[in-house]
Amino acid sequence: MGCARTSFKGRESTYKGLMRDDVDMLAVITGASSGLGATFARKLAARGYDLLLIARRGNRLESIAHEVREQYHVRTEILATDLTNDAALDLAASRIGEAADLGLLVNNAGFGSMGYFFEADPNVQEQMHRLHVLATVRLSHAALTNLIPRATAGTGIINVSSVAAYVVSPQSVSYSATKTWMNRFSEGLAMELAAKSSPVTVQALCPGFTLTEFHDTIGMDRSRIPASLWMTSDFVVEESLRGFDRRALFVIPGWRYKLIVWMLRLTPDALIRRWSIQTAQRYKRPKSTG
Ligand SMILES: NC(=O)c1ccc[n+]([C@@H]2O[C@H](COP(=O)([O-])OP(=O)(O)OC[C@H]3O[C@@H](n4cnc5c(N)ncnc54)[C@H](OP(=O)(O)O)[C@@H]3O)[C@@H](O)[C@H]2O)c1
Repeated sequence: MGCARTSFKGRESTYKGLMRDDVDMLAVITGASSGLGATFARKLAARGYDLLLIARRGNRLESIAHEVREQYHVRTEILATDLTNDAALDLAASRIGEAADLGLLVNNAGFGSMGYFFEADPNVQEQMHRLHVLATVRLSHAALTNLIPRATAGTGIINVSSVAAYVVSPQSVSYSATKTWMNRFSEGLAMELAAKSSPVTVQALCPGFTLTEFHDTIGMDRSRIPASLWMTSDFVVEESLRGFDRRALFVIPGWRYKLIVWMLRLTPDALIRRWSIQTAQRYKRPKSTG
């Protein structure tokens, strides 16, 4: 497990930056060292949130924390840790459960893998389930037990899922399965909150292909995907936060992906399965990246 470090800096009364309004709340972001998580950090700091940034690469977290403190004069804390580790998860959950100013949890940390499940390293597959499922369960529970009694509007959880939640994809079985779980889990939580008339919001963010380090990590050739399907993390996070403001449960950024998901829902499962198998046969991927 890595170390927890704190670096607070009070806001300056003379600040005239881009802060939209001083929300005076804490946003906890997992996977904040790159990609969507780093963009959430920058955009939430611009909205005036103090930040707790979690990921394994402490130096990256330090530099993002430094940047937003300088630019937006918010308070930052970093937790350089591996969320697939039980003790690390305990530590993160207790920090979230005890934060009197908690406003938002973004369960964003995640990774993909390519290749057939039965050829993959079972440890990496298990880690994906730990990160996407168990960490989300544990941190969401900590956040909700903290947020629900306070019943403050504008507070909640964003679970970073994927459009992969809407398909079962050979050679990406664990990824699709865990993201499908994430959608159903978010939906269930939102229903419980509605049943309790709670103002706390839950969102499942379902991006398609987004330019981050995700595809470098799995060694995927980006040129295989049509340019029109790529989105920037800036666009995706902006859509998510706008969706959060209007309390949208599912946010699918980009009209192309909305259309794809709409068509998938209208198509019989058997047909989608056949198409997915044919696609897997056509694209010979490297043996496995986990
Ligand atoms: N990019 C896309 O096309 C796309 C599409 C749909 C959904 N998503 C989802 O978006 C989320 C963010 O991914 P991204 O695209 O921004 O990719 P990314 O740039 O690779 O970011 C992944 C983040 O997760 C962190 N992380 C990975 N394993 C971790 C662990 N064991 N403990 C703690 N943190 C861990 C990484 O930090 P460290 O390495 O420093 O730990 C990094 O900050 C993921 O959940 C992904 O499934 C991405």
